Amino acid sequence: MEIENKKRKIALITGGSRGIGKSIALNAAERGIDVILTYNNNSDQANVVANTINNNGGKAVALQLDSSKTASFSNFTAQVSQVLAKEWNRDNFDYLVNNAGIAQRTLIKDTTEDIFDELVNTNFKGVFFLTQKLIPLISDGGQIINISSGLARFAFPGVAVYGALKAATEGLTRYFAKEYAERKIRVNSVAPGAIDTEFGGGKGDESHCNQIASMTALGRLGVADDVGAFVASLLSDDSRFVNAQRIEVSGGLFI
Ligand SMILES: NC(=O)c1ccc[n+]([C@@H]2O[C@H](COP(=O)([O-])OP(=O)(O)OC[C@H]3O[C@@H](n4cnc5c(N)ncnc54)[C@H](OP(=O)(O)O)[C@@H]3O)[C@@H](O)[C@H]2O)c1
Repeated sequence: MEIENKKRKIALITGGSRGIGKSIALNAAERGIDVILTYNNNSDQANVVANTINNNGGKAVALQLDSSKTASFSNFTAQVSQVLAKEWNRDNFDYLVNNAGIAQRTLIKDTTEDIFDELVNTNFKGVFFLTQKLIPLISDGGQIINISSGLARFAFPGVAVYGALKAATEGLTRYFAKEYAERKIRVNSVAPGAIDTEFGGGKGDESHCNQIASMTALGRLGVADDVGAFVASLLSDDSRFVNAQRIEVSGGLFI
């Protein structure tokens, strides 16, 4: 057996300062992947993630990005190019994980246009245009993973726009896979179930958690590492024939 001295891969992970994105960044680094992670408000937490990776033999850089501000994406893309050249002596990266997102906590009757637009801009329009801008920097044969949600498959009250946008993101996943197949870029979506993070103000009270757990075949809520470890495992040639798929990481919710 010959062990190849492979070039280190680079993943760009949005929303890497906390929760699932942080776990994806740390798990990817543990697998030898270098990381560009983004944060919106929490630069301190993002720098802790980057420092943890850098202090443990990996390489990471944290950049600010508001994924609802499409007008900033050209500058952000230029910044990514500069960082790639300076830190890696490269002009491209290998994996894009569109993870950043915001939650909804309003019934349809209480959902204003402002709430609707913020959800669309952050969770859908931002994903589309950021990917459009960054895809010239993704190496041929690279991969994009869009973080979706179980709520794209089943409905709960209070998350109508959020769930519909995650379903739309799963649709985009297939369209990007189709149009970028000529560059052999694979595009998949990973749909977490209920995961214990700070998302939308946290996991809720005990009775809510018990209810979710009782609807889950594995009998518990997920933790960030349940998703982070899985996504990191996809960032590899081992998944080379998995394309345009939706993969749920929910412990078997509503089966
Ligand atoms: N937790 C769940 O139960 C669950 C279930 C299904 C799907 N998901 C999806 O998983 C993804 C991550 O969720 P999470 O649970 O890890 O959430 P989280 O703990 O609230 O973390 C959200 C991350 O997104 C970043 N972010 C928020 N708004 C942003 C914006 N406008 N622009 C750029 N970045 C922004 C945050 O950055 P700052 O820290 O800088 O604010 C943070 O890094 C989301 O797409 C979510 O829809 C979560």
